[in-house]
Amino acid sequence: MKIRVTAAQKTAPRAELLVVFALDESAGRALPGLEDAVREAKATGDLRAGFRQLSLFHPTSISSKRLLFVGLGKRRDIDAERLRRAAALAQQRAEELEVRELRLWLSDRECGNVPIEAAGRAIAEGLLLGAYRYDPPRREKSKARHGQNAQVTFHGKDASTFKSGFATGEAAAKATHFARDLGNMAANLCTPTYLASQARKMAGAGVSVRILERKDLERLKMQAFLGVARGSVQAPKLIVLDYRPPNAKGTVCVVGKGLTFDSGGISIKPSAKMDEMRYDMCGSAAVLGLFAAIKNGALRGARGKHRVVGVVAACENMPDAAAQKPGDVVTACDGTTIEILNTDAEGRLVLADALAWAVKTYKPSKVVDLATLTGAVVVALGHEVTGVMGSDDGLIAELIAAGKDVDEPLWQLPLWDVHKDQVKSKFADIANLNSAAHGGGSIAGGAFLSYFVGPTAWAHMDIAGTAWGGRAKDYYRGGASGVAVRTLVHWLRGLR
Ligand code: BES
Ligand code: ZN
Ligand code: ZN
Repeated sequence: MKIRVTAAQKTAPRAELLVVFALDESAGRALPGLEDAVREAKATGDLRAGFRQLSLFHPTSISSKRLLFVGLGKRRDIDAERLRRAAALAQQRAEELEVRELRLWLSDRECGNVPIEAAGRAIAEGLLLGAYRYDPPRREKSKARHGQNAQVTFHGKDASTFKSGFATGEAAAKATHFARDLGNMAANLCTPTYLASQARKMAGAGVSVRILERKDLERLKMQAFLGVARGSVQAPKLIVLDYRPPNAKGTVCVVGKGLTFDSGGISIKPSAKMDEMRYDMCGSAAVLGLFAAIKNGALRGARGKHRVVGVVAACENMPDAAAQKPGDVVTACDGTTIEILNTDAEGRLVLADALAWAVKTYKPSKVVDLATLTGAVVVALGHEVTGVMGSDDGLIAELIAAGKDVDEPLWQLPLWDVHKDQVKSKFADIANLNSAAHGGGSIAGGAFLSYFVGPTAWAHMDIAGTAWGGRAKDYYRGGASGVAVRTLVHWLRGLR
């Protein structure tokens, strides 16, 4: 999608499809030169302004052939999510109408009480995310789609604020497309090697990329990570992306689980829905997506400057003669010994080495990991809410606040000493499960990880529910959601 923001006009712009947002109280009142067209539309009795209601007219009083009103409801009910969804609906209507370019015209009035910067961001996100489709490998190439271009004109004194918000939203949304593509790709195509090749493309503009190969992982004694990869012919990769802006103040690490396929290993999963385990790399898609966003300029104008290190532990979990077995004991790179009670609890094993290594190597002030870690988080919180837990309530609060702002909700789960005790092992330091009698499988996953971050402020986001399978909502139609790219961008932009 090509998309641009243009300066305010005194008269209604001419377009194939002119889109304005309609409020319950009024439609297009603050837009100059639209009065007659609004009067015409009203006269038909068909103008609707309820949230998500669309009304299309062919007015004679303006030069645009079509005028589409997208309802926002009452002005006081407008929030960023409504703007995002309204923009997505406009894009989809443009696609159905087979227009090349839609022209969205709005003023601060239609932003309600949403800060103009956030409004610009939400509208860019809606236009772009609504246009997303996975383009599967098919014999017949998918046809070029209509409605892929948009021009947005903001009428009002805050146009430059709107524009900068729009640029952030555009960068984050394009990066979310990238994350969705990685998630949706088949596991034989999106391998650890493929993830590494995609990561390499992020190099430049302050970002350096390094791929640690199997021999490097052996040298670093990452037996927890290597143990998971043992059953697969796919070579494991530890992907490191390092964004160093000049005069950076501190370092944050963002670590992703990158299981390009999780069969369960010897503790093999049931066949039903096993195909969905290609999504088990969505934590790493969020990390790679964050760097795509950084490359697109998403941190331009951020409050503070921080070095951001992304670490992705990518491998496959497969059953094989060489695969690790239940009862095996492995030693992570920090010396912690781990009893593997279930080879399907593999995400925490790869993250153990990735987290321990990241914390030791980069000494970050904050570390966040993202993982499709547990089925239990889907039971606890469903597909709309990411579970978050960790060692630092301040950091967790920052992430929750960022997620709230971009409508990717997070909910904190407790992680206390009692939970950490539950993963102690009789045959090693810790086990990769708690006992079934303890319950709380998602917390147990977090408790396990807590052993590898030392005193560093750390938060763990369990995105097993939110990375795919959520309800459709105008700017998301199913498949990989690309969750957390926007949250991470917004969190980093706000970091002091
Ligand atoms: N990748 C799965 C978690 C998962 C399950 C994500 C279902 C999305 C949907 C993870 O590696 C896993 O298998 N976890 C086990 C842990 C258990 C063995 C303690 C689980 O959740 O069942
Ligand atoms: Zn698993
Ligand atoms: Zn997994």
